[in-house]
Amino acid sequence: MDCIKTFYYSDINSVTENFDKIFQTYLQDGVLCIKDSFFSEKDQKSITEALAKKIGLNYISQHDYEDHHRSIERVGLKSKDEVFINWHLEHVYSNNPQMMASWNMVHFTCEKGSGNTGFIKVDDLYSTIPTEYLEFLNNCNIEQNQKTRTAVAYYDLLKKNILRVDVNKGSDTLVEYQKMIPTKDQIDYFALIQNHIHEVVYSTPSIQKWWEWQTGDMIIIDLHRMIHCVKGGFDSSQRKFRRFWAYKNNPSEYEYNFFGNREQK
Ligand SMILES: [Fe+2]
Repeated sequence: MDCIKTFYYSDINSVTENFDKIFQTYLQDGVLCIKDSFFSEKDQKSITEALAKKIGLNYISQHDYEDHHRSIERVGLKSKDEVFINWHLEHVYSNNPQMMASWNMVHFTCEKGSGNTGFIKVDDLYSTIPTEYLEFLNNCNIEQNQKTRTAVAYYDLLKKNILRVDVNKGSDTLVEYQKMIPTKDQIDYFALIQNHIHEVVYSTPSIQKWWEWQTGDMIIIDLHRMIHCVKGGFDSSQRKFRRFWAYKNNPSEYEYNFFGNREQK
């Protein structure tokens, strides 16, 4: 199992003193864990706000626990070896997606090695995608849930382009190629590329990192860059975390859609 950089800070002063280390790891790896931290809600919020401010995100929202309940209702219980929440880039189609999050595991009573979270840095996908696919994606405008975006977008934090294609087959549709209505061949070619990305994400262990949770672990993640998933092996009472999301724009100006995502009012 590849490593996720781990820090052991159990009080907010240690985090403050080592803040630059945390920030540099965030930039380099896109994910890190502060282990055995058992942070209170207040401390978690302070840490999340400090990092959000540092990277230019001004709005924070909090959600507790509800994801797993909803997912269990949707897909049923899965074993610890099965993907339970599919690999995804967080609300990739949204025009105000969550950019960063802290996930603080406040209750974990399932067997160790159950409910693992997987991570793939979107940058690591590039080496697996043929050059002709990347060149094609550079000219694509794609759509999901009636929202259009470019398939590749500049990420100002990293000062480079990153992929913004949903990793699940058939989820995006090509609506423009070189700013013109695409031909059927171009639409099919985009679908072929999206299928390729899906296959790479689901079946390339060398680019995946996994985290085995214990109570008190707090993951900090760059949601704009880290594709992630959750494996099963637990029910809704066994794994509870407190989550803060950070956005560029005020999420209160958005409302939930059917999928539980926030959409512009
Ligand atoms: Fe997610």
